[in-house]
Amino acid sequence: MIQTQKIKTIKELSELTKTMDKFGNEIVFERASEGYDYNKNTRLDVLIIGEAPGYDEVRIGKPFVGRSGKLLEEWLKLLEIKNFVITNVSKSHPIDPITKKNRRPDIDEIEYWKPILYKEIELLNPKHILCLGDTSYRTLTNSSESITKVIKTEQKFYYEGIPIFVYFHPSYILRNGNYDWKPDILSLNRRFNQKEGQIRL
Ligand code: URA
Repeated sequence: MIQTQKIKTIKELSELTKTMDKFGNEIVFERASEGYDYNKNTRLDVLIIGEAPGYDEVRIGKPFVGRSGKLLEEWLKLLEIKNFVITNVSKSHPIDPITKKNRRPDIDEIEYWKPILYKEIELLNPKHILCLGDTSYRTLTNSSESITKVIKTEQKFYYEGIPIFVYFHPSYILRNGNYDWKPDILSLNRRFNQKEGQIRL
């Protein structure tokens, strides 16, 4: 397993990540909201965690820059989050060997990338985490509850004391073309802004 104990900064973590080529695919690390300065002491508001980069992300070198990313940008406007970082569970691009299409990371890939994700959370120390989709939600919560139920009941989890909110992956919403996500996102906005203790668990 990859050792991250000596890593002290996001820059060092990003450099380590680029050397991790076990799966032979291209690697994409994280991206921050405009104006977010890693070197200032402002606490990060939200760390958004998706699944894995796809072809668009590899081409641009940043997470969520394709169709899913466009939808995520719409959500971010409604969420009114000041500063955020967007990342993925798997930093490498999983490709189906036969169809060459994007695919979900498998269990080995998820396990391989876990120490990097955990270190990323430790270094960024966000006020909130937003897990987008099943892979991210299950990696951080170990919950076996269906993601739909978790979202509908506004269930909240914690990772090392950091509140975790869960929502559908943008690609899932895109596949279900007429799903009205706006009320869900507005409700997420409200929940982000609620003080601990007032939130419905
Ligand atoms: N889907 C993801 O989960 N992550 C990306 O970066 C792009 C699409």
